[in-house]
Amino acid sequence: MSTSVIILAAGKGTRMRSTLPKVLQPLAGRPLLEHVIHTAKKINAAHIITIYGHGGAAVQQAFSQENVQWVEQAEQLGTGHAVKVTLPVLPHDGVSLILSGDVPCVQPSTLQRLLDAASATGIGIVTLTVEDATGYGRIVRQNGQIQAIVEHKDATDEQRQIQEFNTGIYCVSNAKLHEWLPKLSNDNAQGEYYLTDIIAMAIRDGMTVASVEPELAFEVEGVNDRVQLAALEREFQTHQAKQLMQQGVHLIDPARFDLRGTLSVGQDVKIDINVIIEGDCSFGDHVEIGAGCIIKNSVIAAGTKVQPYSIFDQAVVGHNVQIGPFARLRPGAQLANEVHIGNFVEVKNSSLGIGAKANHFTYLGDAEIGAGSNIGAGTITCNYDGANKSKTIIGERAFIGSNSSLVAPVHIGHGATIGAGSVITHDVAENSLAFERSKQIAKENYQRPQKINK
Ligand code: UD1
Ligand code: MG
Repeated sequence: MSTSVIILAAGKGTRMRSTLPKVLQPLAGRPLLEHVIHTAKKINAAHIITIYGHGGAAVQQAFSQENVQWVEQAEQLGTGHAVKVTLPVLPHDGVSLILSGDVPCVQPSTLQRLLDAASATGIGIVTLTVEDATGYGRIVRQNGQIQAIVEHKDATDEQRQIQEFNTGIYCVSNAKLHEWLPKLSNDNAQGEYYLTDIIAMAIRDGMTVASVEPELAFEVEGVNDRVQLAALEREFQTHQAKQLMQQGVHLIDPARFDLRGTLSVGQDVKIDINVIIEGDCSFGDHVEIGAGCIIKNSVIAAGTKVQPYSIFDQAVVGHNVQIGPFARLRPGAQLANEVHIGNFVEVKNSSLGIGAKANHFTYLGDAEIGAGSNIGAGTITCNYDGANKSKTIIGERAFIGSNSSLVAPVHIGHGATIGAGSVITHDVAENSLAFERSKQIAKENYQRPQKINK
């Protein structure tokens, strides 16, 4: 049986007080709606339909790479009306999972349990029981069986005592959606077409309504304002941190760790406080990340140690490398095994061979540096002439003296030595010494200027 996923995302999100549509607000670095679409993909949905309204163009553009069908709900007349506008594109067989674009953390395992429960009855919902369900639609049961959902605003005082609420996640047979949705009315406290009214319709048709509870409460938490967004961010981060610790990661303080993307890890990875991991990263066995590092879309092989406050973006780092503190690896940085990159060293679109070292205050851009070379403090590869970028190629075992400028394009041969303070504009042959500096002038018995008292 094929499963469609319908995602409700037409709401304005007024309470966010933002020009960005609510479903594009980020949770853990990704738009709310992206979380929902990825979850839909994990349960192998045959068809993902997203209902958009406010900020439609921006929302569609943000997901132009995704295989999603967009249906416009020009006027937001209620959740039932929203699903109704999908009927022209909704298959007549199979089932639909109905999700909300602003409930981003529902787990595939919960949706799978809902699908299983609803496969027997034709309709199921995810509910949750809490101390105080104020504001939510309440689940009305008789002899344990669900009879209806009553919205908070339509509920009697007695119904408002009900602690089990509708999370807004449903699984319904498509045949029944085609039958029921055209019959919804908006005769209620909010004058809206309520999707929740299909529960009473199912009961009238003699059906049983299945229900499942999520494993974790945060899965069904919605985002309506920035306070809720920040609270959910923390819960989501706590959940991810827990998963990493269960995989064996030593997080010094899970409350001070942020993963905005995915991280795959080997054994005994250690991460100090206030580290942010973004995009897709992978750390090998025994990798250690010092406090305050920001690591984005990077691969770090086993045994590498990163000292505090280092920043990585699209870097590929080998085994047993030492980096930082205060190092910056920019896109295209490729460090072979056992490289050392020290403080205030910036590496962009450059490779360093096995065991090469650049330990202090250096810019390496568009450079190829051979194995075992030593780049002295303050070395600059001058890769940009104001119009074009050029390459610096340094062979193996070269020694670049401190405070040298290598004006690209330039080639320094294997084993060459560059004297400190040189501005190198011509190629340097293998095993030779090159330096470029004026003669040292010495004045004996020199008197420094004296301060004049006014
Ligand atoms: C809805 C449920 C309520 C449930 C709660 C869970 C109804 C009538 N009520 O209430 O039982 O407890 O969710 O959070 O369904 N949307 C559209 N088009 C519309 C209206 C809404 O796309 O015309 C989207 C919103 O963007 C949002 C979702 O549907 O993603 C839910 O809408 P919302 O207005 O938040 O419903 P609630 O009143 O919270
Ligand atoms: Mg809501």
